[in-house]
Amino acid sequence: MSYEKPMIRQLRGGLMNKFAGATLRQRQVKSEIAGVAVEDLVSQFGSPLFVYSERALRRKFRTMRNAFATRYPDVTFGWSYKTNYLKAICAILHQEGAIAELVSKMEYDKAKALGIPGNQIILNGPHKPFETLEAAVKDGVTINIDHVDEIEDLEAIATRLGKTIPVGIRLNLDAGIQPCWSRFGFNLESGQAMEAVQRIARGGKLRLTGLHSHIGTFIMDPHAYGRQVEKMVQFGYEIEHQWGWQMEYIDIGGGFPSRSRLKGSYHAAEVMLPTIDEYADAICDALWKALKPGHTPKLIIESGRAVVDEAGSLITSVCGTKRLPNGTPAYVIDAGINLLFTSFWYRFDIALDRFIPGPCETSVVYGPMCMNIDVIDEGISLPALSRGDRLVVSNVGAYNNTQWLQFIEYRPNVVLVAENGDVELIRAAEDITDIERREHLPARLTTQQVVGTGASERRPRCA
Ligand SMILES: Cc1ncc(COP(=O)(O)O)c(C=O)c1O
Repeated sequence: MSYEKPMIRQLRGGLMNKFAGATLRQRQVKSEIAGVAVEDLVSQFGSPLFVYSERALRRKFRTMRNAFATRYPDVTFGWSYKTNYLKAICAILHQEGAIAELVSKMEYDKAKALGIPGNQIILNGPHKPFETLEAAVKDGVTINIDHVDEIEDLEAIATRLGKTIPVGIRLNLDAGIQPCWSRFGFNLESGQAMEAVQRIARGGKLRLTGLHSHIGTFIMDPHAYGRQVEKMVQFGYEIEHQWGWQMEYIDIGGGFPSRSRLKGSYHAAEVMLPTIDEYADAICDALWKALKPGHTPKLIIESGRAVVDEAGSLITSVCGTKRLPNGTPAYVIDAGINLLFTSFWYRFDIALDRFIPGPCETSVVYGPMCMNIDVIDEGISLPALSRGDRLVVSNVGAYNNTQWLQFIEYRPNVVLVAENGDVELIRAAEDITDIERREHLPARLTTQQVVGTGASERRPRCA
């Protein structure tokens, strides 16, 4: 038994509310992920380790799709690649029927490499290089224009190809969500969006076939989508009235929350978040109310976070224990902000992989970076941990495997637990070759020549 100093802890009555279990979340234990023991996963693939559950991913996607498909006849899900573009994750979602929603050339290249045809791609985003736009037009991709320069690019492509190009435009609008993401697309309320449509009509080379907007992420009010849909449909009818273009699709973007917890929110996700049915109700009710009889444009949904977040977990191990000067226990783990970039905004569910006895104390969990900002949890209730103890961080499937940093440490293995229980490696851990593959060291700077004497300065300049 290791010595643990005695302590006196103040009982804080304010925390004893009716949601106490969910709020305090003392000493959660998660000994397996998708039916596979944490210890087995670590012994085979090491720590830290990202683990995805194929079953959880497919189930979540189907639940979401069914919520909408049972309320509206023409629904398409566009998989938001930026949320998670691991090939296996994209392939599973494409198998389930999602098309690809892309925002860059790199994502476009990824979708093409996966064999996704152009008519199953939506190209969004504020930076669409000319060559990518041209390739997308030739491929029959659905393109949502972000700004006037893109209109000009597309007109030039239309002239070059000698054909009219169908396009959509991205709107930003006030759906009651603050801050309003007004930097993308054309503003509806100020008249900027209508000016963009006028500009497209004047050019005579493009035909407007759809409207897109994305009101933000982790939107906790389903009625915000109702307001968004109403405004989009109404705007579509104004366009139809003036130019005769009937909207073929209304793309409402993503933004549904996952069962995660924003930093600073008091209650747990189970208490705070509406269900997907509430979102589907708000969106489809608003659609039915706003649409004219007989007009059912395709409803496109680009949900990212809500689809994949809960399918992803991260196993991490304690590599050091300490007490801070004020007595707070602190643990250094082998995964930090380099792997959990979203920890800047979200407070994760952190569980032990087995029951550890002893009193719990409010503790701090640090990542392995030699950086003061590398903090994963500043106030988690934990029993005394030892080096080698495992923690399982849940709901990390969204944005972490795309925003993770190649910084200080190698990025670890990522595995998928298939529905039959097999564990498959879907991204191998990095090594030094990944880090240095793109670097070039000029011969004059090779180590033997540089270290020590300053000899390189005296050497004649030759190859
Ligand atoms: C255009 C667009 N669509 C979809 C998404 C996915 O959003 P979320 O992960 O919040 O569902 C984003 C994310 O920023 C986006 O910009």
